[in-house]
Amino acid sequence: RLEGMPVEWRLSQVQKTQMARFVLPTTRMNIDWDVRPGMQVRLTHRPCKELEKGWSKTGVVHDVKHDCEVTLIFKEGTVDFKEGLNEPEPEPFPTDITTGFDIEVVWIGVPYKRMREAVQKLVTDEFAMTEYLLHTLLGNEVKVEKSEYSSNEIKYNLPDDWNVPNLPPLNDSQIAAIRHCLERPLSLIQGPPGTGKTVTAAAIVYHLVAQKKDKVLVVAPSNTAVDHLTLKLHATGMKVVRVAAKSREGLPYLVENLMLHNMVSMYAQFAKGQDHKLWKLLRKKQKKGELSRLEEIEFKLLWRKIEIKILNAVDVICCTCSSAADDRLKNLVFKRVLVDEATQAQEPECLIPLVNGAQQIILVGDHCQLGPVIKSSQARQASYQISMFERLVQTNIRPMRLQIQYRMHPCLSEFSSNTFYEGSLKNGVTAQERYH
Ligand SMILES: Nc1ncnc2c1ncn2[C@@H]1O[C@H](COP(=O)(O)OP(=O)(O)OP(=O)(O)O)[C@@H](O)[C@H]1O
Ligand SMILES: [Mg+2]
Repeated sequence: RLEGMPVEWRLSQVQKTQMARFVLPTTRMNIDWDVRPGMQVRLTHRPCKELEKGWSKTGVVHDVKHDCEVTLIFKEGTVDFKEGLNEPEPEPFPTDITTGFDIEVVWIGVPYKRMREAVQKLVTDEFAMTEYLLHTLLGNEVKVEKSEYSSNEIKYNLPDDWNVPNLPPLNDSQIAAIRHCLERPLSLIQGPPGTGKTVTAAAIVYHLVAQKKDKVLVVAPSNTAVDHLTLKLHATGMKVVRVAAKSREGLPYLVENLMLHNMVSMYAQFAKGQDHKLWKLLRKKQKKGELSRLEEIEFKLLWRKIEIKILNAVDVICCTCSSAADDRLKNLVFKRVLVDEATQAQEPECLIPLVNGAQQIILVGDHCQLGPVIKSSQARQASYQISMFERLVQTNIRPMRLQIQYRMHPCLSEFSSNTFYEGSLKNGVTAQERYH
């Protein structure tokens, strides 16, 4: 907690929301928190002459410049776990006051709650995932004839051409990995950095969607990884939507026009008839900053209706592992799930997207790189630093390996190949191409 801090107020022109800026002291090495976009931070002012009752509100970190200039954005409905769900605060922002604020990071318990719920669901809900997957994840040996699981749900007509629009032509180890995934209920894909894991992940999703079965849920532990994969998936021509946590909706994203909330507003803008009402209400809300209570209820209902329409119409839904338990995705069944950067997710985090009816799971990652970062010693004792991917490798599930790297200078890759990958890494780039 920082005390007695100066704060600058500003109104965001685009979203008509209040913003506040403060500068972290350079001696903050003593503070055991780190400020990153998307985090929730509470500003508090004690009662004083100008503010009889004092003031307190939680905002979301919008950006952090030069590692110390923090901008907060205040939106209605920010989840604050000390106070429950905030309704729009009646008290105005004390924009005349610019000193004496206490600043603290609000601990967000939602991801942990979702992890616990996922574990609970796995053990209590028989529809969480197929029995085959459940037992395989639990490390029990499951004797299933290949024909048995392929005769159920996982039956694919393998394509003649494996290449995918707007992705690089695939190499043999990538094609072998894709084929492996299409034919099995559980697959692991492993590859050193730059071997095209994310490209291969996008190609797998493309071929899953081409089978015209159900939509595919695509997740990764970090927002950045989800954004990169979303861009690749979109480039192949599939219908893709990116779902971000509500509290992060005002933040800048790589994939602005694929974000669910932006798609709903765009839909509303071009809609006719009944749906046009949503656009009218949205405009009014943006202009005036708020709606009457009745209008607000109508607005939320119409908004939700369009959300459902979009979610049902797309081929692929992309979000973080944790957001797979978002309220807006409740009631959807995800039979096919791909997790990119799976070796960086804690095991219960990786489970969140897998307990909504999974029949086919693809985990992509590299257990030879650093695993999930675990600070608590208790959690380390409970092996939280071992990802689901790594644990499955330990139970003798062989990952499909990608072996040609396209990013590093061949000299660098030779070192990493010999040190970490038993000399198996080959180069897809020449020294000339990586001269710079
Ligand atoms: N078959 C291929 N032919 C040519 N270029 C490729 C091929 N596969 C991947 N690439 C290129 O290699 C680079 C790395 O690909 P990608 O990001 O998919 O690798 P990654 O294994 O996911 O990397 P990271 O370990 O950083 O997650 C990209 O520029 C991609 O376009
Ligand atoms: Mg990648």
